[in-house]
Amino acid sequence: MTIHTFPDGFKWGTATAAYQIEGAFDEDDRGLSIWDTFSHQPGKIYGGQNGDVACDHYHRMEEDVALMAELGHQIYRFSVSWSRVIPFGTGAVNEKGLQFYDRLVDTLLKYNIQPAVTLYHWDLPQALQDLGGWANRGTTDAFAEYAKVMYDRLGDRVSRWITLNEPLIFTMMGHRTGVMAPGIRDLGITARSVHHALLAHGKAVQAFRASGVTGEIGITNANTSYEPADDSAETLKATELARDFDSRLFHGPVFGKGYPESVIRYYEGKGAPFPIEPGDMEIIASATDFLGVNLYSRSRIEPDPERGLGFRAARPTLPLLPMGYEAAPHSLGDFLRWVSKEYDRPKIYITENGVNDNAEPVNGVIDDHVRMDLLRGFLAGVHGAIRDGADVRAYYLWSFCDNFEWAFGFSKRFGIVHTDFETLKRTPKKSAEMYSEIIRNNAVDA
Ligand code: FCB
Repeated sequence: MTIHTFPDGFKWGTATAAYQIEGAFDEDDRGLSIWDTFSHQPGKIYGGQNGDVACDHYHRMEEDVALMAELGHQIYRFSVSWSRVIPFGTGAVNEKGLQFYDRLVDTLLKYNIQPAVTLYHWDLPQALQDLGGWANRGTTDAFAEYAKVMYDRLGDRVSRWITLNEPLIFTMMGHRTGVMAPGIRDLGITARSVHHALLAHGKAVQAFRASGVTGEIGITNANTSYEPADDSAETLKATELARDFDSRLFHGPVFGKGYPESVIRYYEGKGAPFPIEPGDMEIIASATDFLGVNLYSRSRIEPDPERGLGFRAARPTLPLLPMGYEAAPHSLGDFLRWVSKEYDRPKIYITENGVNDNAEPVNGVIDDHVRMDLLRGFLAGVHGAIRDGADVRAYYLWSFCDNFEWAFGFSKRFGIVHTDFETLKRTPKKSAEMYSEIIRNNAVDA
């Protein structure tokens, strides 16, 4: 075992998302989102489950924040439910919705926990979906308008803002494979959604600068660390292609490098061009203050000459977690090194990283040792990447408590706090104890 001590000022906390924890889906004039609609459709979610109640965080917020404080949180990342605040996506603002986030922020600050607000974690107001959702360019202006409402309301107390969570996932899984809300399978709509999501990000950054709020803003992208399955030239090329269709598609435009050629060519070849208008790429490249990195695993890549993309995931060689992810703790450090090099060493917050471990209580104790082992490994990797020059400042573990894991319903547990979905009782797991100690020491033993 080696003790890895993090730089002074490194901050630790957890992350959640509104639809995954809040519940209270039809209270206080909240409007419906695409996740309400989707999860109420038969056959979409494991066991027919939904987020109507989820962790009931809307009613248990004070207790939850008190528990975060007890565990030593210095920072906490949550998302705002757009349709709670603007029930129909644009227009009338719902004061009761805003008050919930006011109270959440005040409670966090009371315990000296610094909030980070994600504006969009996948729950588009249904009213905007009815107008075409992310495929509709109008959604980009609605997003900037909503963002401004939030800056004006919370900007005196919140200084860290994240525009979008993982546009890769909500565009591809929501519009291409259809396994997530809104459940569409259409390549043209996918291309439009990708471009409009990024454009919405850029417009929200511009609205932030115009609002006069002091603080910082960035985007959170989904990532996988890609590894060539062998060192042949074809495999190395295939691995670069995988990076194009995944990391570079969403980082490139934000960092002013544009869309990868290979991706543009692919979509154009399929008659599904990106709807780029003059000036869009400049808006998308509006300067940000940090990069949010989410990462859970790696993927080994091999060439796939038969199919259009030219690459595919090779057979996993590491143990699989219940989610199907390979247990690959080295992947986070590897990715941090890659992204730091590729984009000139941006300031990075790890906005999500964690482990799916479904351990249940035995005599009141939840021994989630798979999570504990992997977390230590992930963190050793972060430490190594910092030593190698990556500018990583904070780590938000996914997640505070077990919650509604999208299409998997409640069947995949990611929390360091156990949620009993019958009684809604919270019980810290062994990993929570371990994490508290890591925070106290600003160091991990791995
Ligand atoms: C990420 C999501 C988050 C959660 C974790 C496990 O892709 O951002 O909401 O589902 O995966």
